[in-house]
Amino acid sequence: MPSPLSAMPSLGLGTWQAPPGQVNQAVCDALELGYRHVDCASLYGNEAEIGAALQRAFQSGLVQREELWITSKLWNDCHAPEQVRPALLRSLRDLGLEQLDLYLIHWPVVHRHGVLMPERASEQIPLEQMPLQDTWRAMEALVDEGLVREIGVSNFSAIKIDSLLQHARRRPTVNQVERHPWLQQNALLGYCQHQGIQLTAYSPLGSSSSNGQPSLLDDPVICAIAEEHRASPPQVLLAWGLATGTAVIPKSVHRDRLASNLAALRLQLSHSDLDRIAALDRHHRILDGSFWELPGGPYTRANLWDEA
Ligand SMILES: NC(=O)c1ccc[n+]([C@@H]2O[C@H](COP(=O)([O-])OP(=O)(O)OC[C@H]3O[C@@H](n4cnc5c(N)ncnc54)[C@H](OP(=O)(O)O)[C@@H]3O)[C@@H](O)[C@H]2O)c1
Repeated sequence: MPSPLSAMPSLGLGTWQAPPGQVNQAVCDALELGYRHVDCASLYGNEAEIGAALQRAFQSGLVQREELWITSKLWNDCHAPEQVRPALLRSLRDLGLEQLDLYLIHWPVVHRHGVLMPERASEQIPLEQMPLQDTWRAMEALVDEGLVREIGVSNFSAIKIDSLLQHARRRPTVNQVERHPWLQQNALLGYCQHQGIQLTAYSPLGSSSSNGQPSLLDDPVICAIAEEHRASPPQVLLAWGLATGTAVIPKSVHRDRLASNLAALRLQLSHSDLDRIAALDRHHRILDGSFWELPGGPYTRANLWDEA
């Protein structure tokens, strides 16, 4: 029996912050270049434009639906079990699809329905009031109905997955989390591998570094390894993610970068390269969850990540 995820290509296209007016062309370029996995989310506000690109690719005969792996995610304001199916149907409508390959709970964080980004604690709902296991049951029903092939989670700690597994009828097949050489998440990766859960690395290039933070792309060790292989730093970062057993979903809206990122599939790092990169871990989160910490609210970075 092949594992359920045997069809998920290990390198996919990220679409967060892929702006309207550009994302259609980016998806078309990516498909032409050979990408077969697109990572979407209703929150990104661009699923309709991605859907238009997919339809264009189907109609031109570039790809068939069965060749693609399309992921979307349930936003935090739709965790109430009765909201899960309507949210999925909106994503399917926007993407122009009858079925998703993978649907993820985007964050283990709940907002009042209709609140995209809460500004005050009263717009948040504690997990005790809206348990993840109840949302998960509604996700399981989507598989039963054939609307999605696989379900999974995102930004979940091992503790949260463990508690979900106590009640789950279907196991999550993916946990999508931030991962790159500065945030290697070895304990979580080991846990997911032990549980047979695929870890997908988001922000594998360190996301966009417009906020004045040091950029992973300038890390001297990454740059040196890139030079030794006549490769680029992004290719080294992606090859590292692949070599360490994760899927990677780099985002770009530029055709040359899309091509170069995809070519990371052919870059083989040596054991010594992997050892040098292993030493770079500094538990540096870019998306650290502080945006869910509101005065008097139920969420803190400590209880989000289950870390002291
Ligand atoms: N589940 C979650 O909570 C979650 C959170 C964050 C992200 N994600 C998913 O993961 C995907 C990837 O993460 P991300 O978008 O945060 O960051 P990323 O893929 O690590 O980095 C994207 C940034 O790198 C630039 N870039 C891409 N290729 C490059 C190259 N070859 N050379 C130089 N710069 C390059 C992009 O710019 P250009 O586009 O201008 O090329 C963009 O600014 C997202 O798009 C989304 O699908 C999921």
